[in-house]
Amino acid sequence: MQEKISEIQNQAKDDLVRAGSPEDVEKIKTRYLGRKGGIINEIIKAIPGLPPEQRSSTGKSANILKKEIGEWIEEKKAGFNTSAANASPLPLFDVSQPGVHKPYGRRHPLTQTIDDIKGIFKKLCFDIEYGPEVEHEYYNFDALNIPDDHPSREDFDTFYLGNKRLLRSQTSTVQIRVMEKTKPPIRMIAPGKVFRPDTVDARHASMFHQIEGLMVDEGVSFSDLKYVLTLFAKSYFGQNIKMRFRPSFFPFTEPSAEIDISCSLCKGKGCSVCSQSGWVEVLGAGMVDPNVFDTVGYDSGKYTGFAFGMGVERLTMLKYGIDNIRLFFENDLRFLSQF
Ligand code: PHE
Repeated sequence: MQEKISEIQNQAKDDLVRAGSPEDVEKIKTRYLGRKGGIINEIIKAIPGLPPEQRSSTGKSANILKKEIGEWIEEKKAGFNTSAANASPLPLFDVSQPGVHKPYGRRHPLTQTIDDIKGIFKKLCFDIEYGPEVEHEYYNFDALNIPDDHPSREDFDTFYLGNKRLLRSQTSTVQIRVMEKTKPPIRMIAPGKVFRPDTVDARHASMFHQIEGLMVDEGVSFSDLKYVLTLFAKSYFGQNIKMRFRPSFFPFTEPSAEIDISCSLCKGKGCSVCSQSGWVEVLGAGMVDPNVFDTVGYDSGKYTGFAFGMGVERLTMLKYGIDNIRLFFENDLRFLSQF
């Protein structure tokens, strides 16, 4: 009988540890302490049928256990209300359960691209600079030689905040901010977010990332620009990357070029990411327009320079074969954990 009592004791303890709610505890109370059919009462009722020498010790043990279970039940109940119950001798959790798996965190793929590109330009002795995302029109347009009637100033191309403030639509703003505070020679890149009210599709989002570049010194030429960008593309994509320079126009560079990378998703055959052309534009660049130097007070007769701006999402998409820009912003761990 003593053995049976200690079995009941263990079972009751176990049941209470596993109980997840006050309702569970009530059920346990009825099962063990219930007046009709409760396990302890059944034992007490069976005492008269035991051999005489067992009766008193069984009765004692049964009463002790009854008291004990009653106390455990009260403790467990209190545990649902107060955190002090954590100190209870009865653990509130099941120690036999497997541990909670904490997944490793990692850098977002866009952060990884930005870090990779910073690394490449650091080797070429470029500094890393940052500028504000909420900008004055002066830095986003005026100082960059962008005329008042230029289409990029329209509401449908720029988020205006009022009072001549806007969300910068390009990181070229940082060119001006850096030239205002530093004298040549300058070698810098400036990563950051830019904002445009574009309709969202596989290649466009209303917020994306750019990395601006600027080098100013005596005797900087277009061939330096070509050299630096080719070196960058080969370091980032590998030696076999195909690039093409197309003549283009930006108000703050003259001459200007757009640089395309062969589309790695369709291997040049044409797909939605490259608009069926086999090429994806990833960079705008050119020689700094002398009007910009005049604006920041540099001697445009003495200094020349080149500038470029690249799209971080597009570079990442091309490198890893990602066909939809939205994936970067949806926070889906099935996507993010692959990088
Ligand atoms: N700011 C330009 C854009 O967003 C890119 C660019 C940067 C072009 C620097 C020339 C020089 O399209």
